[in-house]
Amino acid sequence: MNEGDFLDKIIRNATEKDMDILVKMYLDEVENHQQRAQQFAKDLIYRFKTNICVSDKNIRGTITWDTRGGLDDGVIELVGLGTSSNFKRQGIARDLVLSLINEVKKYFSKAGYKLRVIYLFMEKSNNMGELFYNHMGFRKVSEIPSFYPNNDAVMWIKYF
Ligand SMILES: CC(C)(COP(=O)(O)OP(=O)(O)OC[C@H]1O[C@@H](n2cnc3c(N)ncnc32)[C@H](O)[C@@H]1OP(=O)(O)O)[C@@H](O)C(=O)NCCC(=O)NCCS
Repeated sequence: MNEGDFLDKIIRNATEKDMDILVKMYLDEVENHQQRAQQFAKDLIYRFKTNICVSDKNIRGTITWDTRGGLDDGVIELVGLGTSSNFKRQGIARDLVLSLINEVKKYFSKAGYKLRVIYLFMEKSNNMGELFYNHMGFRKVSEIPSFYPNNDAVMWIKYF
């Protein structure tokens, strides 16, 4: 796909108005299960904070995060990140992570604090994720046995 196909691509915060397109993305990308799709969309909007990459009125990628501890800790947990299957390797996840970093830096600095750490847990067997987070300057710091029902986890971290 050419860069021109992405002229309308924007990254912005997800709001409750995005429920329907988040549900659609889950049904298209993950599984055909209405109830879990609704729960996924609710979690992204109400339980965590989520930024979405939208083009052509469809979601192409999501990044979900939350603060961890007090503002003075300066810590963000990256809860989830994904790019739609037909849009991979076009810089969407990179742009989502970079825009998140910008946003949380402002969030902390407005309150007089600093972003110090972004961390995440990921399945140990996720080779694509590993290549991506390495590329983005994250480092593996720890392995956690049986963290997931069918897999160990790796903790990745980026210091600022
Ligand atoms: C991992 C994932 C988020 C990457 O999304 P993406 O939008 O395709 O990634 P980007 O295009 O921004 O990639 C940036 C860089 O990461 C690296 N990278 C990403 N995917 C890669 C792959 N499949 N193979 C090799 N390198 C890869 C490359 O260095 C790439 O730069 P380049 O394309 O200029 O070589 C995506 O594959 C995905 O949704 N996977 C399923 C969900 C998941 O595993 N999420 C992470 C755990 S929460």
